[in-house]
Amino acid sequence: MPHLFDTLIRCVTLIDGSGAAARLADVALRDGRIACIDAPGAIDPDAAAHVVEGDGLVLAPGFIDVHTHDDTNVVRQPAMTPKLSQGVTTVVVGNCGISAAPVTLTGEPPDPMNLLGHADAFRYPDFKAYVDAVEAAQPAVNVAALVGHTALRSNHMDRFDRAATPQEIAAMRAQLEEALQHGALGLSTGLAYANAFSAPTEEVLALAEPLANAGALYATHLRSEFAEILDAMDEAFRIGRHARVPVVISHLKCAGVANWGRSTEVLDALDGAQRWQPVGCDCYPYTASSSTLDLKQVTSDFDIMVTWSEGAPEMSGRLLADIAAEWQVDLHQAARRLMPAGAVYHCMEDADVDRILSHPATVVGSDGLPNDPLPHPRLWGAFPRVLGHYARDRELFPLTVAVNKMTGMSAERFGLHQRGFVREGYWADLVLFDAATIRDAASFTDPMQPAEGIAAVWVNGELSWQQRQSTGVRAGRFLPRGAG
Ligand code: ZN
Ligand code: CU
Repeated sequence: MPHLFDTLIRCVTLIDGSGAAARLADVALRDGRIACIDAPGAIDPDAAAHVVEGDGLVLAPGFIDVHTHDDTNVVRQPAMTPKLSQGVTTVVVGNCGISAAPVTLTGEPPDPMNLLGHADAFRYPDFKAYVDAVEAAQPAVNVAALVGHTALRSNHMDRFDRAATPQEIAAMRAQLEEALQHGALGLSTGLAYANAFSAPTEEVLALAEPLANAGALYATHLRSEFAEILDAMDEAFRIGRHARVPVVISHLKCAGVANWGRSTEVLDALDGAQRWQPVGCDCYPYTASSSTLDLKQVTSDFDIMVTWSEGAPEMSGRLLADIAAEWQVDLHQAARRLMPAGAVYHCMEDADVDRILSHPATVVGSDGLPNDPLPHPRLWGAFPRVLGHYARDRELFPLTVAVNKMTGMSAERFGLHQRGFVREGYWADLVLFDAATIRDAASFTDPMQPAEGIAAVWVNGELSWQQRQSTGVRAGRFLPRGAG
């Protein structure tokens, strides 16, 4: 007789992603979806082709990494081990103004699009081509995508140090509209980066106009995360109001020593805006940021570690200050000689990260950089770190809240329907983990380490990760906006 269920996960501590209290349950899967949730022991094991004993481990919705730069990696490295190993089952790509599509390059990608790979990784002149490539690659995790403003600028502008003309904005808008038709979640900007900084607010206002009709959103790496952060937030909120779309502030932080302690003020501004319009933010659970090496962020106030360098590849893993001392030059001269390069900036304070991560409007996003040879540990550790270090060890918030910040709230904010919750009829993206031992093992010196305590991960009902290794199954899909 055929089995009623494909998989039964028995006697788990169910944390359903909504923030509700944990409860004991049996969960049965069929045809990629959650078919039945019942009392522990209530579902007959003989009714399922595969039975997994939960033994009281936590079963939660698969984690949704709302802030990634995995655009080209989901195609080039579809095993997606850094994410799957953490229990992540969906990644949102195209953040910070940079996306793999739609992009047509004439040479190497401009900064910071180079975070996504070299020129040969950019093969998608329109968004549909990217959707097709993801579907053909069959990555191990689901993929949803934003379109990057800097990527659009690079398609239509001869130089970045000026505002786009009305004709250029029209051309960028046409490409954005094509992407929205094919399921893009929205538009992202990275206005702090030199190659977008010269874009005036009006350029983004005009570009953002088609978002509302598509039910899309606006995500932004703010124009400043330093002294001018409140002005930068106002700019983001203004763009959201003009376009009548939700605003997501990417990796909200108080960067730079002079800015430490301002998270209360910053979060007050977020709360204030929430009275008038939908706004939220994401955050990664570390006090260090990472990106390309940027002269504007070079300072002696905190450690800056060089992660890669085309100017001096042998300096990977060393502190900028030590390199400058060895070369007998100042920090900026050293940085110039290293560039293009990548860096980790230890630019935040614990109390600010605690406050921002705890805020009710904050979801978790890794901002991991998968093409960095010495990546910031957030790439492999962000989600287990929130569950282990922040929720369990430091008791910053309950485990149910931590899970909500990486599942249900994330799915609602980004419009990922029938995901993010353990509910009958929803897609069976699931993670089984041990709340007592879950821990990020990735460190700044040894960052490519899978997390501990993840027992199993299912993507669209398929067992994809178990006992510290991939099962070889890759069941991820492209998730167009609004699809259920
Ligand atoms: Zn960013
Ligand atoms: Cu980012």
